[in-house]
Amino acid sequence: MPQWLKDAVFYEIYPQSFKDTNGDGIGDFQGIIEKLDYIRDLGCNALWINPCFDSPFKDAGYDVRDYKKAASRYGTNEDLCRLFAEAHKKGIRVLLDLVPGHTSEEHPWFTMSQKAETNEYSNRYIWTSHCFEGAKGFPYIGGESERSGVYVLNFFKCQPALNYGFLNPKEPWQLPVDHPDCIATREAMKDVMRYWLDQGCDGFRVDMAASLVKNDDEEKTGTCAIWSNVREMLDSDYPEAAMVSEWGNPQLALKAGFHMDFFLNGRGNGYSTLMRDYENQEDHSFFKKDGHGDITRFLEDYLPRYEASRDNGYFCLLTCNHDTLRPRYNLDETELKLAFAFIFTMPGVPYLYYGDEIGMRYLELPTKEGGYFRTGSRTPMQWNHEKNAGFSEAEKDSLYLPVDEADDAPTVAAQESNPGSLLHTVKSLLALRHANADLQADAVFEPVYAEKGAAAFVYRRGALTVAVNPSGGTVTVPSVGQKSVIYSIGNGRWEEDRIILEPQSFLVLE
Ligand code: NOJ
Repeated sequence: MPQWLKDAVFYEIYPQSFKDTNGDGIGDFQGIIEKLDYIRDLGCNALWINPCFDSPFKDAGYDVRDYKKAASRYGTNEDLCRLFAEAHKKGIRVLLDLVPGHTSEEHPWFTMSQKAETNEYSNRYIWTSHCFEGAKGFPYIGGESERSGVYVLNFFKCQPALNYGFLNPKEPWQLPVDHPDCIATREAMKDVMRYWLDQGCDGFRVDMAASLVKNDDEEKTGTCAIWSNVREMLDSDYPEAAMVSEWGNPQLALKAGFHMDFFLNGRGNGYSTLMRDYENQEDHSFFKKDGHGDITRFLEDYLPRYEASRDNGYFCLLTCNHDTLRPRYNLDETELKLAFAFIFTMPGVPYLYYGDEIGMRYLELPTKEGGYFRTGSRTPMQWNHEKNAGFSEAEKDSLYLPVDEADDAPTVAAQESNPGSLLHTVKSLLALRHANADLQADAVFEPVYAEKGAAAFVYRRGALTVAVNPSGGTVTVPSVGQKSVIYSIGNGRWEEDRIILEPQSFLVLE
C-alpha cells in the first residue's frame, strides 16, 4: 500500500475546462502546471486528470485512440511528463485515467480487428462468428466492417469492448479468460500502464473497472483475477503507484487489488442522500438546511462497505465528479461548507472536483462530447472576473464550453479575498486534516450519535470527535469525554456535559 495515500487529498481535473494557456479556448497541460501552486495551497496533494490521450472525443476522451499519445489539444507527451515533474517538485502526485474496458472505434487495434483476414488483433475485441449472429445479451453493432460478425459495445456506440474473455463461455465466439488472445489484451493494458508509470505518472483512476470479463459471476471472479495480476506488477515494480477504481463495490475492488474505490452517486443510494436527494418532490438531502434528512440512510449503505475496506484499502468520498450534478445545484454556500466539512473529516481518501471549492454552479447546457446532462458540471474554471473568468484569452464563441456569466458567479479571486468564503473554509478544513492524523485516511471512524429523524450527526475519528448539524434548528447532544473545540464552523460549543450545535454548525473536539 503506497504510504502517501494516508494523507492524500485528491483534486480532480477535467482538463478541457481548467486553464487554457495558448488561447485556443480549451484547457491544456501548461494550464495545469501554472495552477499547481493554487492546488497545493488549497491543500490537495494529488491529482486525478480525466483522460488526456489522443481521441476523437465522442465521450470526452473516454474513447481512446492512442493510449500512449497525449491529446494534442492539451499538449505533447513531453508536456505531460513536465507536468509530472513540476507536480512532484511541489509534493503533488498525478493519477491518469485508464480506460481498460473499451477503446475508440478509431483505435488502430480496432481497425485491424475489423479486417476480414485473421491477424494479431482479430480477438482484441469481442466478435460473433457471423454478420447475422447477434451478441445475445450484449449491446452490439453489425454491418460496419469487412469482417463477418458483430462486435460488442462497452458503453456508447463509439466504444467497442476489449476482449478479456468470458468467465463461462456459452457460445463458440466467447473465448475463455485464459485464451492467449485475452491474456494479450490484459498484457497490452499493463504495457500502457508501464509506459506512463515509467515516465513519472503516479497511478491510475480506472474507468468502469468491473467491466472487463463478460459473463462474470457475482463475485466478479474473472475481472478480479485481472486486477490482482495488475497489482502484482505494481507491488513488484511500482510499489508507490496508486490505483482507484470506478466500481462502487470496495468489498470486491479492494480485495482484487485496488487501493481505493469510490462511493459513486446512484439514485437512492447512501451517498446520494448526503447532497443529492432531490429525485422526489421534497429534497431530503442531509446537508440541506431544511432537508429533514438524517444520516442513517447514508450509514446503512456506507458502514458495511467501510468495514470491509478497513484492512484492504480505502472507500472514498467525493464532492462530485464529471458524471454528477455539482453539489451547488441544490446546496447553497453554507450548506456546502458543512457537506465538505463532513467529506474532509471522513476516513478514506477524499476527492475534490475542480471548482467545487468555490461552489461552481451546474449550468443547463446542450450536450458536448457525449456529456449530455453531465455537460453542466464540466464548464470552465472560474478564476477571476476578467475575460472568460480568467480561463482563456480566446473569443467567447470558441470556448470549449461557456463560462458561468451570472453576476454572482463565484471566482477564486473573489473568494481568496473573503475570509468567510467557501474557498477559505475548504483550505482550513484540508489544513486541519493534514495536521491531525486522526482525521486522515486510516484513523478509526465510529458513529457516536446517529438517530433516525435526527438532524445532527456525531462521530469519532481516532481520539477526536466530529459533530455536524446541517439543519436550521439547534441540537444538543451529550458530551462524552471531550475537552475542547479545535475547529468550528458556525456557532457550536462544548459544555461540561453536552455539545450544543446551533443551526448549521460543525465542530471538531478533542
Ligand atoms: C465512466 C466515466 O466516468 C464516464 O465519463 C464515461 O462516459 C464512461 N465511464 C464510459 O467510459
